[in-house]
Amino acid sequence: MGFRVAALTCSLLVIASSLSAAAEIPAAPKASSYASAKDLVAALDDYIERIEEVLADPGEFADLQSRMVKDAETISVLALVLGLHDEDNVYKAAAGELIKSSQAVAQAADYKAAKAAFEQLKAAKSAKGAAVTGWVRVASLKALMEQVPLVNSRLNRNMRRFERQADGIAQDAAVLAAIAQGSMANLEETIQPSNSEKWFAFCQQMRDAAAVLNKAAVAKDEAGAKDAEAALAKSCDDCHAVFHPEGLESAK
Ligand code: HEC
Repeated sequence: MGFRVAALTCSLLVIASSLSAAAEIPAAPKASSYASAKDLVAALDDYIERIEEVLADPGEFADLQSRMVKDAETISVLALVLGLHDEDNVYKAAAGELIKSSQAVAQAADYKAAKAAFEQLKAAKSAKGAAVTGWVRVASLKALMEQVPLVNSRLNRNMRRFERQADGIAQDAAVLAAIAQGSMANLEETIQPSNSEKWFAFCQQMRDAAAVLNKAAVAKDEAGAKDAEAALAKSCDDCHAVFHPEGLESAK
C-alpha cells in the first residue's frame, strides 16, 4: 500500500514537472539591454499609424486586413515589452489596455468592428490601468512570424544606406528583439511544443543578435551592424532548421 502511494505520488510529480518545464519561460534580462523604450514607443506609434491608413478606406479593407492583423499583434507584443520595461515610458501604465484593444483589432471580423476596436486602441494610449506582470502570450505565433520577415527585409534594405537610415535600422532591430522575446510565450503553437529548451534558446539568440544590431545602429557603427545583421540572419536559419524546416529557403 505504502509502495503504491509512493509510486503514484512519484508519477504525479513527473507529470507535474514535465508540464511546468514546458511552460516556464527563462528569466528575461532588463528590456533596455535589447530594446530601448524610446525605439519601442516610436515603433508602436508607427504601427498605430499604419493601421489608421488601412482603415482610412473601407474599399481596401479586404486586401489590407491581413497586414492590419500582423500590425495589431505586433502592437500587442510591443506594449507587453513596454509594460515590463525597466525604463519609464509613456505606455507603461497603458500597456494592459493597449494589449487588450490591439487584440480586439486583430480579431475584428469586418471593417466596422475593426474601426470600433481601433478607436479603443487609440484611446488606450492614454489609459492608466493595472500594470502587466509577466511574459504571457499576447499574440499569435503565425502573425508574429509573418511580421518578422517584413521588418527584416526593410532592415536589410536600409542597411545599404546605413548612414541615412541608422535610426530606422535601430527601430526595426528593437522591434525584432521585442518580437523574439515575446515569442517565447508561443511555444505551444510550434511544431515541437515539448522542445522548450531549444525554442527559448533560439528566441534568445534572435533577441540578442537584434540587440547588438540595435546598439550598432545607434552608435552609427556600420561594420558592427553588418556583423550583427549576419548573426541575426543566422538566428533565423538556426531556428527554422528545427521549428520551421519547410521554410528554410523562403526566409532567405
Ligand atoms: C525562434 C524561432 C524562429 C526564429 C528566430 C525565426 N523564425 Fe521565422 N518562423 C519560425 C516559425 C515557427 C515559423 C512558422 C510559423 C507558423 O506558420 O506558424 C516561421 C515562419 C517564417 C516565415 C514564413 C512566414 C509565412 O508567411 O508563413 C518566414 C519568411 C520567416 N519565418 C522568416 C524569418 C526571419 C527573416 C527570421 C530572422 C530575422 C526568422 N524568421 C526568425 C520560427 C522562427
